[in-house]
Amino acid sequence: MPKFVEEMLRYDSPVQALVRIVTTDVMLAGVKIPKGEVVLALISSANRDERQHPNPDRFEIHRDQPSLSLGHGAHFCIGAQLARTEARCGMEALLSRFSGFQRTPAELTWGQAITVRGPHTLPLRFIPT
Ligand code: HEM
Repeated sequence: MPKFVEEMLRYDSPVQALVRIVTTDVMLAGVKIPKGEVVLALISSANRDERQHPNPDRFEIHRDQPSLSLGHGAHFCIGAQLARTEARCGMEALLSRFSGFQRTPAELTWGQAITVRGPHTLPLRFIPT
């Protein structure tokens, strides 16, 4: 289950992007970014970088390379362990009560925020054990 949670975070990053203000002139991939510029760092794109994650569009739970979904460095998510534990406990509770679940034909709708991604409604049918 921990590996599933990590791959879910990578595959469909809940936080898609972070805003940063550049503190010094920097060259990045041949592009000069001057001090003071505002950049939008795309976490979700980095998480599909094939140089870091082979076959990035494939959901594969046996990966070793961590994703950037909980940030990196000094501002790494302070709630990371809580978020991981909540996801694991939620999935384990569902799977202990049901043998599985599947999508229903009802429409899946998405939240509209630019930086935070996730379903607004996710109609599921739970299959009794
Ligand atoms: C799936 C759930 C979560 C995701 C994807 C997530 C993602 C992130 C990311 C990407 C950052 C870095 C922000 C940056 O660098 O500007 C961050 C920071 C942070 N997160 Fe989370 N987070 C989650 C859950 C939580 C929870 C449950 C808490 C608190 C109970 C929390 C509290 C924080 C705080 C306080 C920071 C700022 C840390 C700092 O600036 O030093 N997060 N989170």
